[in-house]
Amino acid sequence: MPFLVDPAIPAGSLAVTGHPALPVGDEALLRPWLLTDAAAVREAFSDPEIQRWHMRRADSVAEAEGWIAAWQGEWEAGAGAHWALVEAGSDALLGRLALKRFELQGGTAELAYWMVPLARGRGLCTRAVAVVTRWAMDEWGFHRIELEHATANRASCRVAQKAGFEAEGIRRSVWLQADGRHDAHLHARVRPGS
Ligand SMILES: CC(C)(COP(=O)(O)OP(=O)(O)OC[C@H]1O[C@@H](n2cnc3c(N)ncnc32)[C@H](O)[C@@H]1OP(=O)(O)O)[C@@H](O)C(=O)NCCC(=O)NCCS
Repeated sequence: MPFLVDPAIPAGSLAVTGHPALPVGDEALLRPWLLTDAAAVREAFSDPEIQRWHMRRADSVAEAEGWIAAWQGEWEAGAGAHWALVEAGSDALLGRLALKRFELQGGTAELAYWMVPLARGRGLCTRAVAVVTRWAMDEWGFHRIELEHATANRASCRVAQKAGFEAEGIRRSVWLQADGRHDAHLHARVRPGS
């Protein structure tokens, strides 16, 4: 059945730009994942805070390679874009940012992130969120980007606030984590003037 409105993002238009690499100031770069990042991803998921809020652990490098292949596959399928945040120069892994659940008809997506422990607390996640959001809205034409975090995850809430994602409400008891059920805060940014 035909839609009554044109899609916010025409099919195939993301592929025209390719999966971009995006600088975050002079210090870091968001680039597509490589299978060779798997050992660093496995190490990141040994951190209790990442395990706590992402509800996964990686038991082997091969398992982490599988995740990276799935992230790469989402881009190929037009379903999402996943970036490694790496240190400029050394290419050391600092974190992960992802735009997931592309819905091109309405132009919406969901943002996710984590940072390795040593890279936290210097504003880098917030700056990287701003870079991805600007690219997604200005270059790809996304209209609305959502972000969710457990209400108990104060650091993530602060990142959302600092990056201009307005709080929209609480989804009650939505996540089952190792320590039980958690409420989630929904935040979103809407492209100005649209
Ligand atoms: C959430 C996370 C990505 C933030 O990364 P980061 O690079 O440290 O973020 P920033 O430095 O840009 O900002 C962090 C903010 O949170 C604040 N913060 C950190 N811990 C906090 C806490 N326990 N309570 C309240 N605020 C806290 C910091 O003070 C800072 O705010 P400020 O600039 O006003 O001082 C990182 O902590 C992380 O990876 N945590 C584990 C995984 C995770 O939570 N992922 C998100 C799931 S939704």
